[in-house]
Amino acid sequence: MATMKAIRFHTYGGPEVLVLEDAPRPEAAADELLIRVAAAGVNPLDWKVRAGHAKDWLQHQLPLIPGWDVSGTVAAMGTGVSGFKEGDEVFGMLDFTRNGAYAEYAVARATEMARKPDAVNHVNAASLPIAALTAWQALFDVARLTPGQTVLIHGAAGGVGHFAVQLAKWKGAQVIATASARNSGFARELGADRVIDYQATRFEEAVRGVDVVLDTIGGDTQQRSWQALKKGGVLVATLGIATPQAARDFGVRGEGVFVHADAGQLSQIAALIETKQLRSYISGTPPLAEAASAHEQSEAGHVRGKIVLQVSE
Ligand SMILES: NC(=O)c1ccc[n+]([C@@H]2O[C@H](COP(=O)([O-])OP(=O)(O)OC[C@H]3O[C@@H](n4cnc5c(N)ncnc54)[C@H](OP(=O)(O)O)[C@@H]3O)[C@@H](O)[C@H]2O)c1
Repeated sequence: MATMKAIRFHTYGGPEVLVLEDAPRPEAAADELLIRVAAAGVNPLDWKVRAGHAKDWLQHQLPLIPGWDVSGTVAAMGTGVSGFKEGDEVFGMLDFTRNGAYAEYAVARATEMARKPDAVNHVNAASLPIAALTAWQALFDVARLTPGQTVLIHGAAGGVGHFAVQLAKWKGAQVIATASARNSGFARELGADRVIDYQATRFEEAVRGVDVVLDTIGGDTQQRSWQALKKGGVLVATLGIATPQAARDFGVRGEGVFVHADAGQLSQIAALIETKQLRSYISGTPPLAEAASAHEQSEAGHVRGKIVLQVSE
């Protein structure tokens, strides 16, 4: 049996359960691509799965390879695949229910992968799928943000938030962002018209009448956000809506967003990166062997932009 190097965990737990070891090299089914992984994006989902927070939902069999954002080169493909050939550079979001991309090889459904533009490197491409698709789907599919509207974006310095600020500006919206003082300048550089230091100011006292809130934080931040909306506005949350009744009380909509693979949207996002209308801020590119430390950083909740594991050249 062919093997490969991979980060896996055999039991749920802290970052220390991640081990770099030999694992079976996967094979592409009829509708799949075998991808030689160049880079794997790190998302909070990765450590949540590792810690066992998603075990009832995803029902993984262990050992598991985490990491569902990938960029790499097509090494082989199933008999039913058309539109790709060996050597093509591709990127996308893998199926959360299966093995991920912290490995030398990963398999992906061909219909869910997009071509990586030559001008976008693998690290950049691997930073995009989950975070940029979530921002896109939250703002455009769920909230139906239109030019001239105002959106309050919580967690503007994070993976989802830093794409959301730029995508909302690209759409022609006004953006109010929340970030710590350390990230205020960063949020402004991304295009935010106004930045609120959430540690110094109660945003709900400073903001009124917005059309859309994008909440990537949840908890108390979500509870204090309802009053910032105008009647008929919408709060879109990446962590679900804790109190649906609150939306009714304030005369607004509260919607969860759940990211799904969409190769067409990914291609549009990549084109924006290629034409420099969108950028990905990469805060670190550790090697695969340092996945545990990448998880520690993500889990601490203050990553600026994205961490991407560099798997091969
Ligand atoms: N439903 C879905 O499909 C979906 C998809 C993607 C992500 N998610 C979830 O959405 C959440 C965000 O994901 P992400 O990838 O953006 O996470 P992330 O990159 O880890 O977000 C980190 C950022 O959050 C900011 N932050 C922390 N506390 C804050 C607060 N109270 N107010 C404002 N900003 C704060 C930090 O900025 P400072 O350092 O300035 O505090 C940091 O830059 C995660 O829980 C993730 O699991 C869900």
